Amino acid sequence: MQRHLISAADLTRDDAVLILDTAEEMARVADRPIKKLPTLRGRTVVNLFFEDSTRTRISFEAAEKRLSADVINFTAKGSSVSKGESLKDTAQTLEAMGVDAVVIRHGASGAPYRLATSGWIDAHVINAGDGTHQHPTQALLDAFTMRRRLVGPDAGLGQDLSGRRITIVGDVLHSRVARSNVDLLHTLGAEVTLVAPPTLLPVGVETWPCEVSYDLDSTLPKSDAVMMLRVQRERMNAAFFPTEREYSRRYGLDGDRMARMPEHAVVMHPGPMVRGMEITAEVADSDRCTVVEQVSNGVSIRMAVLYLLLGGNEPAVTHPSPTTPATRRSASASELRTTEEK
Ligand code: NCD
Repeated sequence: MQRHLISAADLTRDDAVLILDTAEEMARVADRPIKKLPTLRGRTVVNLFFEDSTRTRISFEAAEKRLSADVINFTAKGSSVSKGESLKDTAQTLEAMGVDAVVIRHGASGAPYRLATSGWIDAHVINAGDGTHQHPTQALLDAFTMRRRLVGPDAGLGQDLSGRRITIVGDVLHSRVARSNVDLLHTLGAEVTLVAPPTLLPVGVETWPCEVSYDLDSTLPKSDAVMMLRVQRERMNAAFFPTEREYSRRYGLDGDRMARMPEHAVVMHPGPMVRGMEITAEVADSDRCTVVEQVSNGVSIRMAVLYLLLGGNEPAVTHPSPTTPATRRSASASELRTTEEK
């Protein structure tokens, strides 16, 4: 693993599988009455959010707290950023406070990369979404959700997504989620098809490691997972499609379309959903839709990433179940105890 997590494209297959496997162990912590591990005790993590977010910010915060890190939340609104402070000055302020990791979301593509490579700070940098560029932990939690649903939590350990067919539908042009997913899914051996109106596909998409189609109906029967993207109105400065109705009719997922998918196939959405636009309420609320599961899986993935970047070489979290080999159990006995027990 590298020092920072900036792009899903930086992860090797083995890095990605290690993160998914570690997240599987973290998920078991969430099933305990006390959902806390002492792993990051004494370490400080800052959540630096320059752009609106609900689930990603809360998810990182939950992950940090479950690993016992000290958490500082910074949002641009209400900070000196609104007085014109630069990213460099903000970074140096954080450095002076001795933070160990910065989780950054920024409207400008490349901001996390700049932070990680500028020399302004020593901390680990985790990209929580930058402009239309990357959102690596989202791609990881999506891959984790697919592996759990399509292969199984235990059967999936050590496995990638070889041969799985994933369809990503909608506003690819503005979507960092789509970019990160294409990169990571390709690394994990899946076959990805993008479906979107031509106006919502970026220039150069033909060089991406995926197929492109304009016809959702013919792609659905060949999909193991269908990921719907939000139409990102806030990033649109022109008319990219005639009307909302026209968009929904061609690229929205409703009950009839969902019925064309294979029985085992799942519907995914990173949230926030625009019900009635890219997805109908019937689909969003169906058992095949993993949107709520994606949120809880996000906490496990972010715990895994923080653990692997900051936790050093300590043994991975193990669980005192009868199936855990005795050697491994004793090696990490202190890890296992909750903060309260210690
Ligand atoms: C996405 C984002 O912010 O990139 N949401 C998320 O992280 N859960 C996608 C979106 O806003 O549509």
